[in-house]
Amino acid sequence: MDGNGRWAKAKGLPRTMGHTAGVEALKTTLHLCSNWGIGALTVYAFSTENWSRPSEEVNVLMKLFERVLKRELTNLKLEKVKINFLGDLDPLPNALKDLINESVESTLNNKGIRFNVCTNYGGRRELVLAAKKLAERSVKGELDPSLIDENVFASELFTASEVDPDLLIRTSGEKRISNFLLWQLAYAEIHVTDVLWPDFDADALNKALIDYQSRSRRFGGV
Ligand code: IPE
Ligand code: MG
Repeated sequence: MDGNGRWAKAKGLPRTMGHTAGVEALKTTLHLCSNWGIGALTVYAFSTENWSRPSEEVNVLMKLFERVLKRELTNLKLEKVKINFLGDLDPLPNALKDLINESVESTLNNKGIRFNVCTNYGGRRELVLAAKKLAERSVKGELDPSLIDENVFASELFTASEVDPDLLIRTSGEKRISNFLLWQLAYAEIHVTDVLWPDFDADALNKALIDYQSRSRRFGGV
C-alpha cells in the first residue's frame, strides 16, 4: 500500500495524514474484493524494514493499526471476513497484539474473503524462519531432510494455509517487489499503477483486474 507519504506531501499535509487516508482506501478495496468474490486479499501494512522510519511515524502507525482494528472488527465480522496477520508479531505493542489475537480468533470460522495483513513482515525473514524450522525438525529426527520438497517448505511459511496470489498490485509507480511474499509471488501477474495508495478506488481496482484478465498465464508451459 505504497504512496501514503507522497499523497500527503502533495497536499501539504503531514505524512501521517496519508496513512489515515490509506486506511479508507483499504476499507474500500477490501469491500470491493469481497463483492467481486475474490478469495483472498493480502496487503503489506508494515515491513521488517519500516522500523527504521522516525519513531514518531512508527508510533503513529502502531496506534493507527490498533484504532482501526478496534473500530472495524464488528464490520469485518458482519462481512464474514476471515482476518489473519502474517509476520513476526512478537515485537508489536501488547495492546495491538491482544487486538490481533481477538480479531483472528473471532473471525476464524468466517467463510467470506480471507484478509491477510502483513505486519512486521519480510519475505527474506520468512524464508530464513522456514529454513530454521525445517533444520530444527531434522535435527530432532522428526523430518527426513531428503523429503523436503516445495510443499514441505511452503508449509513452514506464514502463508501455510493460503493459495499463492494470482495478482500483485503495486501502487505509486514503484517497480520492485520490496521483500514482499518472495516465495508466493513466483507466478503472480504484476500490475503497476501510478495511483498513490490513498487514491486507490473502484476504478483503479477495475483497471488492475482488466489488466490481469488480459494476461495469458502459462506457468512455465507453452
Ligand atoms: C506506505 O506508504 C505505508 C506504509 C509503509 C505503512 P509510504 O509511507 O511508504 O508512502 P511514500 O512511499 O512515502 O509515499
Ligand atoms: Mg513508500
